[in-house]
Amino acid sequence: MTTEQTTDPAHGRVAARLSMPLGEAMFTQRAIRRVRPDPIPADDLRDMLVAATRAPSGGNAQPWRFIVLLDEGVRRPFAELYREAWWAKRHDAGIHGPEDFPEAGRYSMQSAMRLADEIGDAPAIVLICATARGEGAMTSVIPAAQNLLLAGRALGVGGTITTLHPSVEERVHALLGIPDSAQVVYCVPLGYPRGRFGPAQRKPLVQVAALDRWDGPALG
Ligand SMILES: Cc1cc2nc3c(=O)[nH]c(=O)nc-3n(C[C@H](O)[C@H](O)[C@H](O)COP(=O)(O)O)c2cc1C
Repeated sequence: MTTEQTTDPAHGRVAARLSMPLGEAMFTQRAIRRVRPDPIPADDLRDMLVAATRAPSGGNAQPWRFIVLLDEGVRRPFAELYREAWWAKRHDAGIHGPEDFPEAGRYSMQSAMRLADEIGDAPAIVLICATARGEGAMTSVIPAAQNLLLAGRALGVGGTITTLHPSVEERVHALLGIPDSAQVVYCVPLGYPRGRFGPAQRKPLVQVAALDRWDGPALG
């Protein structure tokens, strides 16, 4: 398939399956970190990935590659590296154990720590990679991550965006055969939520939007 193609054979089929109102998906697509081990049907996973590949990218270069970890023999060793990476990021921030978690954000950090312990139980882990190094390729794959999660929301599949740490990069590349010329941008564990979706808790618009200039009149 080339990017010049004007008709998209997946469009009607996948779009029809992702028929949840856009507003509902956007307003309830929260980070899901606790998932049931039940497998995600191959069709649903494929449609989520198709949706991800419909995201925009710089110059429509589509510099992404999605590695979908299903095999427990791969997920388990990857999960070890994920846990190590999660703690490496905390150590960089001067956090050496749960007792160091800052009061603000403690709940979210505990939840992320639990994900670091349990990520290997997720039935699928998608590594969203950029086919080149550098910021251009990296930023170009970001919209695909959100498309993946919104499509998952429409199908009842939860997940969250996570990142790795340079200290595990070489071993992740070796484990999954990722070439040196590429980079892992996000790691997205997926599964059916143990809890519930949304609503997303966010700052009110009035605090984050201004008219015409940075310190212009607040919007909202
Ligand atoms: C760039 C990025 C990196 C993130 N990294 C992690 C992570 O390493 N571990 C994790 O558990 N969640 C991670 N998250 C998820 C955020 O913590 C989550 O989206 C945020 O707290 C909002 O959560 P909510 O949608 O449930 O309100 C990341 C999200 C983004 C966008």
